[in-house]
Amino acid sequence: MTRSVVLVTGGAGYVGSHACKALALSGYLPVTYDNLSTGWSDAVKFGPLERGDIMDAWRLRDVIERHNPVGVMHFAAHSNVGEASEVPDKYWKNNLMGSLTLIETMLSQGVGSLVFSSTCAVYGNNESAILTEETPLGPLNAYGASKLATEQMISNFVGSHGMSASIFRYFNVAGADPDAEIGEFHRPETHLIPRVLDVAMGERDTLTINGSDYPTRDGTCVRDFVHASDLANAHIEGLEWAMDNPGHEVFNLGSGGGFTVREVIDAAEQVTGRKVPTIGGPRRDGDVATLVSGSTKASAVLGWLPANSTLEQMVRDAWRWHQRPGYNE
Ligand SMILES: NC(=O)c1ccc[n+]([C@@H]2O[C@H](COP(=O)([O-])OP(=O)(O)OC[C@H]3O[C@@H](n4cnc5c(N)ncnc54)[C@H](O)[C@@H]3O)[C@@H](O)[C@H]2O)c1
Repeated sequence: MTRSVVLVTGGAGYVGSHACKALALSGYLPVTYDNLSTGWSDAVKFGPLERGDIMDAWRLRDVIERHNPVGVMHFAAHSNVGEASEVPDKYWKNNLMGSLTLIETMLSQGVGSLVFSSTCAVYGNNESAILTEETPLGPLNAYGASKLATEQMISNFVGSHGMSASIFRYFNVAGADPDAEIGEFHRPETHLIPRVLDVAMGERDTLTINGSDYPTRDGTCVRDFVHASDLANAHIEGLEWAMDNPGHEVFNLGSGGGFTVREVIDAAEQVTGRKVPTIGGPRRDGDVATLVSGSTKASAVLGWLPANSTLEQMVRDAWRWHQRPGYNE
């Protein structure tokens, strides 16, 4: 039986590769479109890789014509917050202009269903610790701003071009495929759990905790972590929603619970059976005490549940992936 194709931009990256596995398990054929700027060809295991840039309309058109996808999942972006403050033009070009090129091209080829990876960074430094889709927006850097601008651009296309879209604002993505076929591998790595596990592995000597005087239960920041496989499943539901419904919807994707940096370190020590030495560092600019998704919209509308997003499971799956042979080569 021929499988329906879904074009996955950024499918060679962390979240995109998990989405490709979920698509394959759901009976779709994921076609990854990726320039491998931060992704890895060996993460493309569940369908073909078409190497290309989302800014390259000719290449995109050729790939869409040949594969005839029923929809697009759009992960391709730059997402290093620190870098975004240093070279904002890189973020505006890739994240906003790249998305415009992709959307124009898919619509010109008659493909109208889109799932877009946005971020809780669109909320910025908010007064409220618990964020819903109605929380006021105010991104603090070119990363969050370029994602919010893309959300707004998509809403305009939905209104005037008959496109449908699910927009997902992820909180902190964590964990790895429970079968350890794919996982997180950013270079440089800025995310907490792999950094903690690097220390457990002996790849780094210590972990710096930035700020231990926040008004939280142990003084360290609280963040909402969501398992990459749960997120991947949400993308199937979001794609099918977009294929069946007109318009667009924005959904927060988090577990709805928060863990402190200290709790993540404790969980890593328990799972790995190893010590994670820490040193105290200053607060980082722009870090707020607590960022947690307070939304149940994704479960109400899409039927999505973050079933694997316990701290223990996210750390255990990440650790299994972290220990695979050749991880750091
Ligand atoms: N990982 C997180 O915690 C997190 C949180 C919020 C939002 N997001 C969003 O999710 C998406 C995926 O994040 P990730 O952590 O998997 O990042 P990643 O860097 O692992 O994956 C991004 C992929 O996009 C590709 N890419 C980048 N620019 C491209 C271009 N111009 N043309 C073609 N391919 C291109 C990269 O090569 C890479 O494979 C991003 O849009 C990111 O902003 C991630």
